[in-house]
Amino acid sequence: MYLGLDLGTSSLKALLIDEGQCSVAEAAIQLSVSRPHDGWSEQHPSNWITACEAVLDELSARVDLGTVKGIGLSGHMHGATILGAADKVLWPCILWNDTRAAAQASAMDAEPDWRKISGNIVFPGFTAPKVQWMREEHPALFDQIRSVLLPKDYVRLWLTGEKVAEMSDAAGTSWLDIRARDWSDDLLGRAGLGRDMMPRLVEGADESGRLRTEFATRWGFSTSVPVAGGGGDNAASAVGMGVVRPGQAFVSLGTSGVLFAACDGCSPDAASAVHTFCHALPQMWYQMGVTLSATDSLNWWAGIVGSDAKALTASLGELQAPGRVLFLPYLGGERTPLNSASVRAGFFGLDHTTGLEAATRAVLEGVVFALVDCRDALAAAGTSVKTCVALGGGSQSAYWLKAMATALDIPLQVTDRGELGAAFGAARLGMMVATGTTDVFTRSPVLKTVEPDTRLTQAFKDTHARYRAATRSIMELL
Ligand code: XUL
Repeated sequence: MYLGLDLGTSSLKALLIDEGQCSVAEAAIQLSVSRPHDGWSEQHPSNWITACEAVLDELSARVDLGTVKGIGLSGHMHGATILGAADKVLWPCILWNDTRAAAQASAMDAEPDWRKISGNIVFPGFTAPKVQWMREEHPALFDQIRSVLLPKDYVRLWLTGEKVAEMSDAAGTSWLDIRARDWSDDLLGRAGLGRDMMPRLVEGADESGRLRTEFATRWGFSTSVPVAGGGGDNAASAVGMGVVRPGQAFVSLGTSGVLFAACDGCSPDAASAVHTFCHALPQMWYQMGVTLSATDSLNWWAGIVGSDAKALTASLGELQAPGRVLFLPYLGGERTPLNSASVRAGFFGLDHTTGLEAATRAVLEGVVFALVDCRDALAAAGTSVKTCVALGGGSQSAYWLKAMATALDIPLQVTDRGELGAAFGAARLGMMVATGTTDVFTRSPVLKTVEPDTRLTQAFKDTHARYRAATRSIMELL
């Protein structure tokens, strides 16, 4: 068996698969995000470890973990987990959707070398500007920093005792030279850090360390199970979905929304606000557009109207042409294509007759249009999408999927691993490290295809044009 652990923003998920890559057992523990100030988003690393212990307790009560041969990790990207002496956590992890470092990010981004070497805009949610924020706002704490880890790599430290990162997640720090697949001493130096403070780098299917003996005594693992490098959640999902060749893509409706396309070369186009990162497989890269609030928007709306996301979407029936109401999903700023930490969300076109269903449809459509913007940004960066898999919690909604297929005007392949895509990819990387083969993509996880509703294609195009105009007008209001 192989174990995938995926540290998501809203839950930690564990998936055990057998030699045929079928699910043996799953477990998940909810995680919360703390937002102590506008634009802040934090999690305490100790909660990740408590959640890991809980999923391992649950799995070991159901399955003999002694037959696990390899483990892979996945996790939300960009988080700054800042450790001092004796690996003490100096500050709660500052997450990917935190925008407090907007000023630091734009100052760094104004120095051309950051884009040139890291291949990307220095977005406020990336790791480097957040550490720079600490340097400026809490210099005494900054001076205590001994290492900076990405979220899943903190879990790795607990599992193996090793400080190791892998390329796909390291690429999202702004400190990696994404072409050379190595830390940039130049960029680290500008940040007041050094290579000695950075974790060792491996590829996603390389061994990063071995389970500590405590895992044998506590949960029955056999001694020295290898832990693969793994991947940032998007790269790990791509491995799970077999998105590993140019032209293959996935669209994810998770807390964030992502349109991800695999590439066999590294051709960054930072100005488009498309992200170009290393894939979890050697000599592969990927480009993606990211909208910050996907299911986050629906969950926000469900909270406002005192309902829950499932109930709201279940009552919508067949896909309809978009109505007059528009929703711009910029609750916490936006990455692709706007690169704005200060833009905020809005409803447009409400009238006396607007009811719950029309507003809910507008929320779903708003996220879909944000992903159409990501598709257009990818196309402008020269990356086309030929096949596309849908995943993430939001892909459970038939209405949302049909709207997405129609707006993107592409059939969407749906899998039985939609919600566990990243955990499955992590488990596959665990399988690769244990078996020494990268030949794990033979089993296709596709279950069915959702076709665009061609009767509504034009209506979605027209409303997308209105959405763009509304976005332009709120950008002008900033
Ligand atoms: C990608 C990004 C998010 C997080 C959380 O750049 O910020 O997708 O990885 O899922």
